[in-house]
Amino acid sequence: MNIIEFEDKEQLGKEAAALIARTIASKPDAVLGLATGGTPLDTYQELIHLYQSQQLSFKQTKTVNLDEYAGLDPDHENSYMTYMKRHLFDHIDLPQDQYFLPNGASPDLEKECLRYDQLIQDIGGIDLQLLGIGQNGHIGFNEPGTPFNSKTHVVKLDENTRQANARYFSSIDEVPTHAITMGIASILSSKKILLLASGKSKAKVIQYLEQTEIHPDFPASALKLHEDVTILIDREAGSLR
Ligand code: F6R
Repeated sequence: MNIIEFEDKEQLGKEAAALIARTIASKPDAVLGLATGGTPLDTYQELIHLYQSQQLSFKQTKTVNLDEYAGLDPDHENSYMTYMKRHLFDHIDLPQDQYFLPNGASPDLEKECLRYDQLIQDIGGIDLQLLGIGQNGHIGFNEPGTPFNSKTHVVKLDENTRQANARYFSSIDEVPTHAITMGIASILSSKKILLLASGKSKAKVIQYLEQTEIHPDFPASALKLHEDVTILIDREAGSLR
């Protein structure tokens, strides 16, 4: 794991976007794995800027998102599909039939997980997977204890994860209890992984990630099994190192 520290989250976002842009420049039909949450917002803003200033095109690119809430329609205001449209897809030239998220509204969630794994395989696998990290070490919605050989699956969200995400909903009761997430094995099968962490609230988890041994109780430690992981952090997230 190669950890690079930046002054602030804006610089971190610029560097993450530059790395994504380099991936697309060297392989225009690259498959990107994308994340939601607060962390990648600066990166997405910078990608939009690169597109608008004609430095980057997504016309041949495909994207697959890590996760989606179960029980929310794709067009629900809090779905991850809506997040992705709002913060990236609606502002770039990525064709509508080239971005994919699990469908949390599927009547058969188990079948949907199998479909999603097959889809990732059919489009050639993920070239670059972008990740955030939860304060409990989760990646995607792989909460502590998730087996490292897990593929896309349905998860019950940790209370602490639901609390952290409640800021996007009008009350905690509205935060879904379950989600579909790519598994740890799905994430590890990406060719390259780029994990981002910013802010003081991530300082402990970054310190722990660096020091801990590989163990399912700390899902992000699985990244130590991958040979091409870059971690970009800002100074606050690095303050306990
Ligand atoms: C989001 C995801 C999550 C987040 C993590 C950090 O698609 O899979 O693992 O990356 O919860 O969230 P933020 O960035 O909001 O701190």
